[in-house]
Amino acid sequence: MRLLFLVVVGFYGVFVVEAGRKWVDQGVEIEVLYEPSNCTYRSQMKDMLTTDYIGKFPDGKKFDSTYDRKEAMTYIMGQGDVIKGCEIGTMKMCKGEKRYLVIPPNLAYGSTQYGQIPPNSTLTFEIVLTDLQEDPFRAFDP
Ligand SMILES: *[C@@H]1O[C@H](CO)[C@@H](O)[C@H](O)[C@H]1NC(C)=O
Ligand SMILES: *[C@@H]1O[C@H](CO)[C@@H](O)[C@H](O)[C@H]1NC(C)=O
Repeated sequence: MRLLFLVVVGFYGVFVVEAGRKWVDQGVEIEVLYEPSNCTYRSQMKDMLTTDYIGKFPDGKKFDSTYDRKEAMTYIMGQGDVIKGCEIGTMKMCKGEKRYLVIPPNLAYGSTQYGQIPPNSTLTFEIVLTDLQEDPFRAFDP
């Protein structure tokens, strides 16, 4: 019993150290909610990212979710396929990592209405990197 208790406490300790890191990059608040321990490669420019996310307004109201649509969001980093804040918030991420992002309007849809997103909206995302491919188009680069 005593041994099991120590193992559980030890595991929890590791989890606490790995999760919960928080910083701001160019105005995007980034918090690591989960980081796999076997992280060997992190996302960078030109990589292809596959993500699942839940997008909410700061008041908690959901505006979009790949889980509801049953379709992941895939994009090439640095091409503007997604809002700027999302690119900033998913840089140097490892496969399996989960983050919480707070994106100000100027790095999202700005002062224009976008679907059900009102002008000047701050957006939050709980986002998981489910797949990461290193620069899939490098063979075609000049
Ligand atoms: C880490 O381990 C998980 C589970 O075994 C695996 O699915 C994942 O691909 C691994 N990630 C890396 C970067 O090796
Ligand atoms: C959005 O922000 C811009 C710049 O601050 C401002 O000029 C504009 O009136 C705002 N729009 C709305 C609908 O609040």
